[in-house]
Amino acid sequence: MGPSEGSIEEPLAVLAELKRHGLIRHLGLSNISPEQLAEAQSITEIVCVQNLYNVAHRSDDGFIDDLARQGIAYVPFFPLGGFSPLQSSTLDAVAASLAATPMQVALAWLLQRSSNILLIPGTASLEHLRENLKAARLQLPSEAIADLDSIGRSPGQGER
Ligand SMILES: NC(=O)c1ccc[n+]([C@@H]2O[C@H](COP(=O)([O-])OP(=O)(O)OC[C@H]3O[C@@H](n4cnc5c(N)ncnc54)[C@H](OP(=O)(O)O)[C@@H]3O)[C@@H](O)[C@H]2O)c1
Repeated sequence: MGPSEGSIEEPLAVLAELKRHGLIRHLGLSNISPEQLAEAQSITEIVCVQNLYNVAHRSDDGFIDDLARQGIAYVPFFPLGGFSPLQSSTLDAVAASLAATPMQVALAWLLQRSSNILLIPGTASLEHLRENLKAARLQLPSEAIADLDSIGRSPGQGER
């Protein structure tokens, strides 16, 4: 699910041309590396990046900070772990301490991680949708954030 290195000039040049003709307003890229973003920016403006990132999978930490400095939105896919929903005793403990659910905490952590992060959690359940929306109002104290930060550093990366 990570980016595969290589030039993206050929497909992006076509999209940039469509943008020049006014058929596309903004361009975003998914599954890209910082090097591919740099190549893309030599061709056209990029307004957002969508890569795999969540409280347990943090290989894009530096990339997110760089995008924030450039005013580019970062849209993490699999914010809740995707096909393997996040499972972590630390996540559970923080959620219990805040009277929230683990998924709400995982989403609130992303929102507090960086101001350029926009969320697109997927669900087929209205109940989960309502639960997930409430994460926007959940403020995580600094001790909770420190505990959650340890998940991405642990060997099992989010495994129980
Ligand atoms: N650009 C890419 O290459 C790429 C790759 C993958 C995904 N995406 C996009 O990223 C977005 C999110 O991906 P995703 O939906 O696959 O992963 P996700 O948001 O990380 O996880 C969705 C899973 O979490 C469950 N879930 C959601 N809310 C929950 C809650 N409150 N409590 C318990 N379980 C909950 C859902 O089950 P329920 O249905 O039961 O709630 C579903 O199984 C989608 O728009 C997807 O299209 C993009």
